[in-house]
Amino acid sequence: MPLNVHITPRRVIGQRSPMIYGHFIEHFHRQIYGGVYQPGHPLSDEDGFRTDVLDALRRIHIPILRWPGGCFVSSYHWKDAVGPERQPLFDKAWRVEDPNTFGTDEYVKLCRKLGCEPYICTNAGTGTPEEMSDWVEYCNLANEGRWARWRIANGFEKPHGVKYWSIGNENYGHWEIGAKSAEEWGRLVRESAKMMRHVDPTAELSAAAIHDTAWTMNLLRTCGEYIDWISIHEYWDMMPETNHPATYEQCMAFTDRIDHSVREVRGMLAALRLDGRIKIAFDEWNLRSWHHPNVHTIRQGVGKDSYLTPRDKNDDNSTYTMADAVFTACFLNAMHRHCDIVGMANFAPVLNTRGCIYSDDNGVVLRSTYHVFDLYVNHMGDTVVDLWAEGDMPQMTVPFKWGGERTVDCVDLLATAFSDKPGLAVAAINKDAENAHTLHIPLDAPSAITLLTLNGDSKDAYNDVGHEGVTVAETCLGVQEGCAEIALPPHSVSIIRIG
Ligand code: AHR
Repeated sequence: MPLNVHITPRRVIGQRSPMIYGHFIEHFHRQIYGGVYQPGHPLSDEDGFRTDVLDALRRIHIPILRWPGGCFVSSYHWKDAVGPERQPLFDKAWRVEDPNTFGTDEYVKLCRKLGCEPYICTNAGTGTPEEMSDWVEYCNLANEGRWARWRIANGFEKPHGVKYWSIGNENYGHWEIGAKSAEEWGRLVRESAKMMRHVDPTAELSAAAIHDTAWTMNLLRTCGEYIDWISIHEYWDMMPETNHPATYEQCMAFTDRIDHSVREVRGMLAALRLDGRIKIAFDEWNLRSWHHPNVHTIRQGVGKDSYLTPRDKNDDNSTYTMADAVFTACFLNAMHRHCDIVGMANFAPVLNTRGCIYSDDNGVVLRSTYHVFDLYVNHMGDTVVDLWAEGDMPQMTVPFKWGGERTVDCVDLLATAFSDKPGLAVAAINKDAENAHTLHIPLDAPSAITLLTLNGDSKDAYNDVGHEGVTVAETCLGVQEGCAEIALPPHSVSIIRIG
C-alpha cells in the first residue's frame, strides 16, 4: 500500500544550521596520529596532513570540527602542545604517550585547510578556569598578555579566532577524569565561563550536560546566563567493553525515539525559559560506541593486550553496514525536525575508530555513513518544510539489544526546500530489511524528479579496502506531473530531488 506524501513548502518548520553536519576528532587510537596527522607520509602535505583524508573531508563540507576530546581532554594541558618545545604527555584517559606534536596551532591549521569552524573542548577535569581562559587568550587576543604574545612568537601573528568553546567533557560520568557533582559542576562552569568571557565576550560557550534533570537543571539554574549552548552526547550500540555489534534489526530498534535526549533537554530549557536563547550542541553522537575495554572502568587493564590492542577492532570495516547508514540518516532527519533548538551535531568521530572515513597506510575507505553525509550535505536543502504521510505507515517489530522489542515505523521522511533556488529535496529512508515501500508524492506542477539511493546488496553490505559493497545510484526519472511514484528499496537511504 503506497504512502501518500503531502509536502507543504509554504509551511516552514525552520532553517537548519549547517553545523548539524559537524564532526569530532579526538586524540584516541588513529584519529590524529596515524590518522589525519602523519608528517612525512607520502600522502601527507607540507604541514603533515593526509591529503586523501583532507579531500574526503572537503567533499562533505565539514562545517565544524570539535577537538581534542572527549575523555582525552580531562587531563590535557594545552600549553604542553604549543611552541617549539613540546612536552610529551602520558594520556591518563587512554593510557598512551601523546607526543603533543599536534596541538592548538596544528589543529587550527587543519580547520583552515578544511574551511571549517574550530570548536575547542577544554579540560574541566584537572584543568582550571584560568587555564581555559588562558587558552582563549592564546587563540583570540590580538597581542595583549603573555599567551597572545606566545602565539605571535610561535609564528601566528593574527589571532586564531576560535568562536566555539566547550567547558568540559562528560564531567558527570564516573569514567571521566575529574568527574564532578552537579553542584561542583555548576560552580566550575560559571567561574570558567566568567573568565573566558572576560577574555573574549564574543566567544560562544557550551557546557557538558546530559538528559538528566538533576545535573542539567542545576547547570542551567547556575549558569544559564553564562552559556550559549548545552552539550549532550549519545551512543546507542554500547560496546566499550565487549565488541559485539548490534544486528541490523537491533539497530533499527535504536531508532525508536531517537530524539529523546533532545526532547528532554528541550523541556528543561523551556521550563527555565532558556529555550529561546540556549541551543543544543549534540556534539558527540554515533550509532556505535567506541570499543576501548578496561579503561572506562576502575579496574584498568594491565597488559596492553587487555586495553590497547583491542582498540584495533574498531577498524573492522565490515562492522559499518547499511544499518549504520540508515540509523545515521534517521538521526539527521530527527535533528532537522528539531532545527529550532539543535544548532550543532558532531559525528563521533569523523576518522577511524567508528568514523565515517577509515584510513590506512595506502589510502582511505569511505564507510556507509560517509555517503549519508555526502548525500545530505550536497543534496538536501537548508529549509525544513512540512511533510506528512497519509495512509497506513508500515511498521516493524524488532528485537532490542538489551532485551524485549521495539515497534518502529518502516519509513522516515523529511522534506526540505532551498533558500537560494527552487525545488525540494526529500530524505526518504526505508528501514525495512525485507520489503520495498512506495511513496506517492502529489506534484503542484510538472517537475523533474531525480532519485539518489544509497544501498548495498544486503542489509549487512559495507565498504572496505578493495571492496565496495555500498554505493549511491543516481536515477533521473524525468519530468513527472500529477503524482510522482517512488519505490524505496529495502534497507536504503534516498534523496528525492523534485524540481
Ligand atoms: O568512547 C569515546 C568516548 O565517549 C569519548 O572520549 C567521550 O567523550 C565519550 O564518553
